[in-house]
Amino acid sequence: MANVRFDHVTKRFGKVVAVDDFTLEIPDRDFVALVGPSGSGKSTALRLLAGLDTITSGDIYIGDRLINRIAPRDRDIAMVFQSYALYPHMSVHDNMAFGLSLRHVPRDEIRRRVLEAAQILGIDQLLPRKPRELSGGQRQRVALGRAIVREPAVFLLDEPLSNLDAKLRVQTRAEISKLHQRLGTTFVYVTHDQIEAMTMATRIVVMNEGRIQQVGTPQELYERPTNLFVAGFIGSPAMNLFEGEIAATADTASINASTFHLELPLDQARRLRDHGGEKLVFGIRPEDIYDLAFLPPGIEAQSMQARVDVVEPLGNETLLYLLIGEQQFLARVDARTRATPGAQMNVALNLSRLNAFDPQSEQAIALEPVTT
Ligand SMILES: Nc1ncnc2c1ncn2[C@@H]1O[C@H](COP(=O)(O)OP(=O)(O)OP(=O)(O)O)[C@@H](O)[C@H]1O
Ligand SMILES: [Mg+2]
Repeated sequence: MANVRFDHVTKRFGKVVAVDDFTLEIPDRDFVALVGPSGSGKSTALRLLAGLDTITSGDIYIGDRLINRIAPRDRDIAMVFQSYALYPHMSVHDNMAFGLSLRHVPRDEIRRRVLEAAQILGIDQLLPRKPRELSGGQRQRVALGRAIVREPAVFLLDEPLSNLDAKLRVQTRAEISKLHQRLGTTFVYVTHDQIEAMTMATRIVVMNEGRIQQVGTPQELYERPTNLFVAGFIGSPAMNLFEGEIAATADTASINASTFHLELPLDQARRLRDHGGEKLVFGIRPEDIYDLAFLPPGIEAQSMQARVDVVEPLGNETLLYLLIGEQQFLARVDARTRATPGAQMNVALNLSRLNAFDPQSEQAIALEPVTT
């Protein structure tokens, strides 16, 4: 069993609180991504788990074992870093075998593990080569191989793809997902790239300033961000945010924004009616704003006039920078749109998918569980 448990873990570097009261349970075989902006404490959390930094307070367990005072090499983990520095004078085989020889693993066993890892990664043809004879992607795979041969209970990966170009990153992303399925081992993966986290992880931990903001499946974070930070961080292009005041009657509710007005559908009116008279922050995802001419059947949406500012065709869809009233919105619409810059157009907002936040606490209001 290799579940991992952080129990109120804090790490200070002098006055800097890098990780702040971090509590997290990672089930065995899970693929957890720690995601957040630069300096949010992701690498530090991983290094605490690896034993490369010491914990200021709190406990970390792997399985049932308290590991606070256990040396890194006795923690049954393997770590892959962004800068994976292979030994240039050693062959791929020897790079992968090196850690095992240090541990006095028998030669036959080393040979077997290196071959097996190389086959999994599709680099068995490259074993005699030196690192300088490899492409960036191949080197990255050798670095992964070096971790795989250790057969650890937990894999720790810190931005392992950030040295690769965009295309290779997408490819290697899929390979790491396959690797996780094949090895059936717990993975903890650090990235500042929310798309990487969304595509690979079974669960995502969003961090900011050393603190956990939200833990959930990719879909939970996307559909029901718990606060404004997560709402803005998860999703690309980002959620549109605007301010407005709730006007409520006995059975309806609407939003008065400074330069436009939205009538809320029944389900949302029920959720937000109690907030009549309050100024809130609302969020709507770009794909929940449609070109009215291409509104799919079955979606109940409020139609509005918008002025088109910029049109960005992406082939499969088109991004529109719109002004509704004086508020800017980004919409992801059907590629067949005939929107042209400077023109007026009719858009439709799917308000049943609207998010609402308290502007002071920045917490989501009237959160409902994700149903799909
Ligand atoms: N050895 C150290 N000494 C002092 N401060 C440190 C040390 N390591 C990290 N920090 C500080 O702790 C905070 C968290 O750093 P950390 O490296 O965990 O961030 P990160 O989320 O991994 O960021 P990035 O995406 O840039 O890698 C930062 O403010 C950083 O400056
Ligand atoms: Mg980092």
